[in-house]
Amino acid sequence: MSVVVAETVSELRGLVQGRTVALVPTMGALHDGHLALIARARELVTAATADTIVASIFVNPLQFGPGEDLDKYPRTMDDDLAKLEAAGVAVVFAPSVEQMYPDGVLATKVTSGTIGSLFEGRTRAGHFDGVLTVVAKLLNIVDPTAVLFGQKDAQQVFLVQRMVRDLSFATTVVVVETVREDTGLALSSRNRFLDAKEHRAARALSAALEAAASSGDRGIDSVLAAAQSVLMGENLVALDYLAVVNPTTFLPVDDAYRGPARVLVAARVGSTRLIDNEKIHLGG
Ligand code: PAF
Repeated sequence: MSVVVAETVSELRGLVQGRTVALVPTMGALHDGHLALIARARELVTAATADTIVASIFVNPLQFGPGEDLDKYPRTMDDDLAKLEAAGVAVVFAPSVEQMYPDGVLATKVTSGTIGSLFEGRTRAGHFDGVLTVVAKLLNIVDPTAVLFGQKDAQQVFLVQRMVRDLSFATTVVVVETVREDTGLALSSRNRFLDAKEHRAARALSAALEAAASSGDRGIDSVLAAAQSVLMGENLVALDYLAVVNPTTFLPVDDAYRGPARVLVAARVGSTRLIDNEKIHLGG
């Protein structure tokens, strides 16, 4: 069965009318992390939770700030469609910018509030407003019963879950674990920008998270120190932030906090900005 590509909102709506959809939103440049989302969507179809998988491919200008890599962002449509077809996706929604934003500048946007201005939002002002706005539009266009996201973008996942609850979207957010290379490096569309030395250096991010996780029993200071010492041992890695958050609030935990937490890391490796995160338990 070959994949059908809808380029307009009305084509897409026609194709999914009367169907229960599992939606996998992407910006293309697909890798095995995206294919893990499709595999999970296929399980939803097998379990009769959904009867169709729709993947969207849209490099959303609204989530890129001035000076970010919108023009450089990899666009690999033919390759992406071949991967999606091989993975059994029935419908791909690949709209143009004009189709998604027909009036150019939007009069209405979703705002991501305080959490959207922390961590990724500190260096990427407006990024999460752009993400939430396009995800809200995709949910309105596709009306999926389930929408799937990768845990690698932990802050995005948290904010989308909040938006779905806050704005009462009738969909379930399904979160899929990060897919990693054997070296531990989390898969990302931006990994292709790393040269061989940078690629080796980039392993420090996941190694730092592992070091953090194994220090959880000794408290927050030890967690941060363990991760920092790994990152500082790699001179091609320029740390942007390292933080430990409470998964229910996405706010940094204080010294007294005990329980489940998530360590977040963002760093520039050469000119490529990478993020990663890992679940930990703060005890002691
Ligand atoms: O994670 C991404 O690829 C994007 O942020 C998303 C969710 C497709 C919105 O453009």
